[in-house]
Amino acid sequence: MSSFEEKIEQALASPQNQGELADADAVGTVGSPECGDMMRMWLKFTEKDGKRVIDRASFQAFGCQTAIAVASIATQLLKGKTAEEARNLSAQDLAGDLGALPPMKIHCGQLVEGALRNALDPQEKPEAPKNTLLGDINVQKPTRIRVIPLES
Ligand code: FES
Repeated sequence: MSSFEEKIEQALASPQNQGELADADAVGTVGSPECGDMMRMWLKFTEKDGKRVIDRASFQAFGCQTAIAVASIATQLLKGKTAEEARNLSAQDLAGDLGALPPMKIHCGQLVEGALRNALDPQEKPEAPKNTLLGDINVQKPTRIRVIPLES
């Protein structure tokens, strides 16, 4: 078993922050027409040291195990971040300790990134692809999946 698969298994053994945040300040929902998976993310903000930061993030996934594992890690990473800091996180950043997502799984991380972006900026269309860790090695860059906002 690869190290990546072991990390996915570990993350799935006890996924964090699953389910609706009843008192959320923001919610984002996206779906991938390519694989049919969906992700919803809720954000709750608080004031800390004069800044508005994410106090809690949670998710609900109708998708693959990688997307669930990334969302579990991402919702933990988001705590304490400002909206601006959260906007600057790529799918790869959100995957945290999972490390570099395999090319076939990058779109799973992008589903999580899309849900986050939709929660932060519901009026915006999905952005162009960001660089991934694959950018520096001689691998063809994967194309970004089309992530579409869904009605909540
Ligand atoms: Fe669709 Fe992973 S296969 S999000």
